[in-house]
Amino acid sequence: MTERSSLGIVLAAGEGTRMRSGLPKVLHEVGGRPMIVHAMTTARAAGVNRLALVVGPNMAAVEKVVTAAGADEIFHQSQRLGTAHAVLCARSAIAAGADDVIVLYGDTPLVRPRSVAAVRAQLAAGADLVVLGFRTPHPTGYGRLIEADGRLVAIREEKDATDAERAVTFCNSGILAFRGGTMLSLLDLIGNTNAKGEFYLTDAVEIAHARGLTVVAVEGAEDEFRGVNDRTQLATCESIFQARRRAATLADGVTLVAPETVFFSADTEIAEDVTIEPNVVFGPGVRVERGARIRAFSHLEGARVGEGATVGPYARLRPGADLGRDVHVGNFVEIKNGRIEEGAKVNHLTYIGDARVGAKANIGAGTITCNYDGFFKHHTDIGAGAFVGSNSSLVAPVKIGDGAFVGSGSVVTLDVPADALAVARGRQLTREGWAAAFRTRMARIKAAK
Ligand code: UD1
Ligand code: CA
Repeated sequence: MTERSSLGIVLAAGEGTRMRSGLPKVLHEVGGRPMIVHAMTTARAAGVNRLALVVGPNMAAVEKVVTAAGADEIFHQSQRLGTAHAVLCARSAIAAGADDVIVLYGDTPLVRPRSVAAVRAQLAAGADLVVLGFRTPHPTGYGRLIEADGRLVAIREEKDATDAERAVTFCNSGILAFRGGTMLSLLDLIGNTNAKGEFYLTDAVEIAHARGLTVVAVEGAEDEFRGVNDRTQLATCESIFQARRRAATLADGVTLVAPETVFFSADTEIAEDVTIEPNVVFGPGVRVERGARIRAFSHLEGARVGEGATVGPYARLRPGADLGRDVHVGNFVEIKNGRIEEGAKVNHLTYIGDARVGAKANIGAGTITCNYDGFFKHHTDIGAGAFVGSNSSLVAPVKIGDGAFVGSGSVVTLDVPADALAVARGRQLTREGWAAAFRTRMARIKAAK
């Protein structure tokens, strides 16, 4: 099947307004990834080798995202005239020739690659047109798959259906796939005499059937084809996405103590034998290596956690946090753009930003890298085996050498050589008996008032 050339057309024009958002609908995220990118990723995972996007007017933001996600071509539909019209906006891509052409919607983020692959398998087996359908007790709003003698003969849109057709519970997911060679001859025959006055892509089924072409329905699960038109449906898709990811993560050999409280992104990578405690959130771009433990109430984003490392409870790893093997990052620690090397410990109440912490270094409670001067970010380099005493401020750019020692409460503005001691704070003054004398004097003043 991978030998067959294939074109995916993702429709993202024709915006609904029910999202009530300044952001185009298809850019709303599920699992930290825009819905349109889910559709593209699914198509790619099913082996689709060219991807054409059809976007509406004023969709520069969508174009930017799909370009970054690897769209091969972008077409514009300036007027919303229906799904067939939208697909025909990509006419030149279809005419360029592909064995399989698969149409997907940009607002349907949960489609599994294996369903698209099943559709392609039918084309490979000789079908001219394949429709991905699903059965639901609540078919209202969907196009119904009309069968006769066990063959798919038409798709009837809700508004055009007879009562008998409306009783059908086998529905169109929206994913249709065509043999490339016959596709345009079918689409060019589609008219707009229907309840909505739109050019329906779904009419291709009836036309193909009348021509004696082979039309096949493939069945998938309802949850895969949930479309998003409002924020409630978006939340539903998010919860289905999370449920799937939790199940897949458990199956991959990861312990989730309370799975329903852990939230993943579409690209989260977690190795075997990792343990994730309750209430952990993975933003985009996280990888956790084998045997690590992510303790409760931690938030990770754009970070790597090395083998056997421990993070949290209550830790925040921001983009560029890169924790080596057996690193310990403890409670109320924030790390951004920082490499923490093997066995180093940053255990309490600390901010490490734009820094390197060398192997086995120990960063005391309350240490802050002062990385920003209001204009520029600067780097802090802490050598292997260094010991930074509690409540120190390291004013970047600054370098603490290997094995150096920083006295607690220091404000370090100058480099500290390897194995040196730096203490940068007021010297301690001690006066014997001062406190007792002070109390006696104050008590006398108070009594005289
Ligand atoms: C469509 C199907 C219906 C199916 C349902 C599944 C048609 C005629 N109907 O109905 O059989 O059960 O999806 O959710 O295809 N779009 C454009 N340009 C247009 C019109 C639509 O790009 O001119 C895009 C939309 O952005 C959307 C998709 O096509 O992503 C589907 O359009 P929509 O109007 O939502 O179709 P439905 O009525 O939901
Ligand atoms: Ca829809």
